[in-house]
Amino acid sequence: MKVMEKLLHIIATPREEESRTLRVTASFLEPFRSSHPDWVIEELDLFKETLPSLTMKRVDGKYVLLGGKDLYGELKEAWQEIIAHIERFMSADAYLISTPMWNFSIPYLLKQYIDIIVQPKFLFRYTEKGVEGLAKNRKMIVITSRGGEYATPETKNADLQEPYLRLIFGFVGITDITFIIAQPMDMGAEVQEAKIRQAQEKAEKLARSF
Ligand SMILES: Cc1cc2nc3c(=O)[nH]c(=O)nc-3n(C[C@H](O)[C@H](O)[C@H](O)COP(=O)(O)O)c2cc1C
Repeated sequence: MKVMEKLLHIIATPREEESRTLRVTASFLEPFRSSHPDWVIEELDLFKETLPSLTMKRVDGKYVLLGGKDLYGELKEAWQEIIAHIERFMSADAYLISTPMWNFSIPYLLKQYIDIIVQPKFLFRYTEKGVEGLAKNRKMIVITSRGGEYATPETKNADLQEPYLRLIFGFVGITDITFIIAQPMDMGAEVQEAKIRQAQEKAEKLARSF
C-alpha cells in the first residue's frame, strides 16, 4: 500500500548556488516540506545525471511501440534505461520543474529528458477518440527565471517556454500546471532582487496551498 506521496523535483539549471531559479525554488521547498510531512521529495538534477541518448536502436523502439507492438529482444534491452526514467517519472504524484529560459525555450537537457520519457504506451496512447495522456491527475509547478521580460502582448510571442511545457505535459495528461516566473533578471540588480522576492512570495504561498 502506498503511504507517502511523491514530488519529483526536476532541476534543469547547472548554476547551483548561483541560480536565480533555485533561489525561488528554495522558497517553495522549505514551506512545502513543513506543511506536507507526508510527501517525499525526490530530486532529479538533469545536469548531474547521464541521460540516455536516443540512438538509432532506441528510436527504432519508439516506432515499434507506435506500430502497436511490444518491444522485443535487443530493443527491449536498449530501452532499459528509458523505461527506468519513465517509471521514475510515473512513480511521482506531482512535479516541480526548476528551469531557466534558454534561447526563448528550455535548456537542452530538459528537452532530452522530455524526448526520453514521452513514449507511446507509457505516457500516451492513441484511442478511437484521439490521443489519451497516461499521466493524468498529477499537478505540476514550473519555477522559472528569465533574463528578459515576456509579459507584454509584444514580448509574449517570444516566450516559447511556457506554451511548450504546457503543450507537451498537457499531451501526456498533465493539465494542472502553475508557473512561477521571475523576470526580468538581467535588467539591473535592483529589479532582479525585487522580482526574485515577488516570485519567492508566490512560491511560499503556493507551497502552503498545494
Ligand atoms: C544558454 C543561455 C540562454 C539564455 N537564453 C535566454 C533567452 O532566450 N531569454 C532570456 O530572457 N534569457 C535567457 N538567458 C538568461 C537566463 O534565462 C537567466 O539568466 C536566468 O535567470 C538563468 O537562470 P538560473 O540562474 O536559474 O540558471 C539565457 C541564459 C543562458 C545561459
